[in-house]
Amino acid sequence: MLGSLVLLWLGFCLLFFLFRLRRPKNFPPGPWPVPILGNLLQLNLVNPINDLKKLSERYGQVYSLYIGSRPAVVLNGLQAMKEALVTRSVDFSGRHQDLMLNHITGSKGVIMADFGPSWREHRRFALMTLRNFGLGKQSMEDRILGETSHVSSCLERSAGQSMDPQHLFHNATSNIICSIIFGSRYEYEDENFQAIITMMEETLKIANGPWAMLYDSMTLLRSLPLPFQKAFQNYHNVREHVLGIVTQHEQTRVARVTRDLTDCYLNEMEKRGASDSSFDKGQMIILLLDLFFAGTDTTSNTLRTALLYLMTHPDVQERCQKEIDEVLGETAEASFEDRHSMPYTQAMIHEAQRVANTVPLSVFHATTKDTQLMGYDIPKGTLIIPNLSSVLNEESQWKFPHDFNPSNFLNDKGEFVKPEAFMPFSVGPRMCLGEGLARMELFLILVTLLHRFQFIWPEDGGVPDYTPVFGITQAPKPYKLGLADRLNTAQWPEQGQAAGERNTTSSDEEGEPVPKKGKTDKQRHIEMLLYREDGEKEDQGADSKDEMNDYLQDRNMIQDR
Ligand code: HEM
Ligand SMILES: *[C@@H]1O[C@H](CO)[C@@H](O)[C@H](O)[C@H]1NC(C)=O
Ligand SMILES: *[C@@H]1O[C@H](CO)[C@@H](O)[C@H](O)[C@H]1NC(C)=O
Repeated sequence: MLGSLVLLWLGFCLLFFLFRLRRPKNFPPGPWPVPILGNLLQLNLVNPINDLKKLSERYGQVYSLYIGSRPAVVLNGLQAMKEALVTRSVDFSGRHQDLMLNHITGSKGVIMADFGPSWREHRRFALMTLRNFGLGKQSMEDRILGETSHVSSCLERSAGQSMDPQHLFHNATSNIICSIIFGSRYEYEDENFQAIITMMEETLKIANGPWAMLYDSMTLLRSLPLPFQKAFQNYHNVREHVLGIVTQHEQTRVARVTRDLTDCYLNEMEKRGASDSSFDKGQMIILLLDLFFAGTDTTSNTLRTALLYLMTHPDVQERCQKEIDEVLGETAEASFEDRHSMPYTQAMIHEAQRVANTVPLSVFHATTKDTQLMGYDIPKGTLIIPNLSSVLNEESQWKFPHDFNPSNFLNDKGEFVKPEAFMPFSVGPRMCLGEGLARMELFLILVTLLHRFQFIWPEDGGVPDYTPVFGITQAPKPYKLGLADRLNTAQWPEQGQAAGERNTTSSDEEGEPVPKKGKTDKQRHIEMLLYREDGEKEDQGADSKDEMNDYLQDRNMIQDR
């Protein structure tokens, strides 16, 4: 009896020894991991928010965490974020290659692709194309405004009442992406379209949930028939569907006419030829899905958050409407250029993005080589978790870190300014490549809708709950959007008289176009990069210099539009 106990104990020790997790030397501090499971037992897998909050309070700006036997480092706050993602961008711009989403996508496309030539070429291609090279006659702006008018007419039907805006905005943002990548929008009721959306949603839900965490932590479980297999099945179906669309494109293509991003990719493939190119159909399909995947939920959740706060902050809404009315007058359509004459509305939209905190932990990065951060040593291949929400709410960076207040983006002259800590799209060479498109969507849709409708918290709406639903992309809790047509005063509750006053308000406030404040932001970034070039010359090869140029070019492409 005793003998077998001792044996058991020895066996246990041996196991422990074999699977012992050795913390690398001078690794950031963190809770002590157990073998195999890492810190999983210390976290609530369904909603780890509170547990993580305690850890970040205890360990500060940079701390470590074991996801299974995989070491991860969490970045908190502007300083750590900048040092890692900008100053040491080459070291920190990889993606981990052994997560569920890698296996689902085969690490092709852009989002999950590791730092390297194929990622860079595809990222560059997508940026250039989104920037409107060869997208035919229809500009991005037209595509967005076209979809916005569908949204308007749907909302019109609910004027005087309330409705749940979730599907409407989801359908709208996915249509905008579809129009850009596949050349056609879909009727909101289209069955094929709904099937893709549903499958993508399901996949994302699984990828977001506890099953994915288990998949990522424990290699042994991966081939078992557990619920995560559904994600693989779904993605396979979606891929087949997209392959169908691509085949259709190939059959109907006409030389020198590019209807959409799919045509552009086919052209690019032809131009490059088969040999020695990272462009092929397998990559293409994942790229298309990446854009669809990354561009839909993010934008529609941000829109819903903006409307939630506009409803519950009528003073902010009114000030935006006043500004919009002054600039647009009777014109129904806004243009993206108008943003320069709408500093307050710009500030509101940025503030909505700040509080929406749509991608709270960014997309996980990985180190591409042994490196350092804030005095710690971080080995190659460490999972990096950039906590964007810690920067968007950082108390030392914002005038009103815990409120919804557009003044966070206004200087004392009422001009729009963008603080450095505004990074909902992340920073560095991996930063969101859809930023330009997303900003255009947010601006055109919100301005058009505010011009047209009054948004009112409905009487049966209960108490507003701003707590987001946790996920890779966060969403506001479902709510009812109450609205009235601003052209039809009969639908207005009490405060309706304002509608008659449109365009009669004096323009003494801030009519003048404000010079582009983004410039100073960009200059700061360039300075930061130059500083790095000077300061760390010794271990920077030509490669990283190229990388820096790439990054600056990318930034220009994203921000200059
Ligand atoms: C409000 C809307 C959006 C937000 C808040 C957002 C945010 C982000 C964030 C935080 C990342 C991770 C960056 C990193 O790894 O450091 C990202 C990556 C990405 N986003 Fe967005 N995004 C938005 C809209 C879009 C749109 C509309 C598109 C599509 C055109 C898009 C395409 C992508 C792609 C392809 C990546 C991967 C980039 C790479 O790995 O190199 N996003 N986005
Ligand atoms: C990210 O930062 C927020 C705000 O500082 C904090 O509540 C959250 O727990 C942090 N998350 C992680 C993973 O450390
Ligand atoms: C949007 O999609 C949903 C299903 O996801 C569908 O039921 C609805 O009719 C669509 N259209 C609108 C305007 O919400």
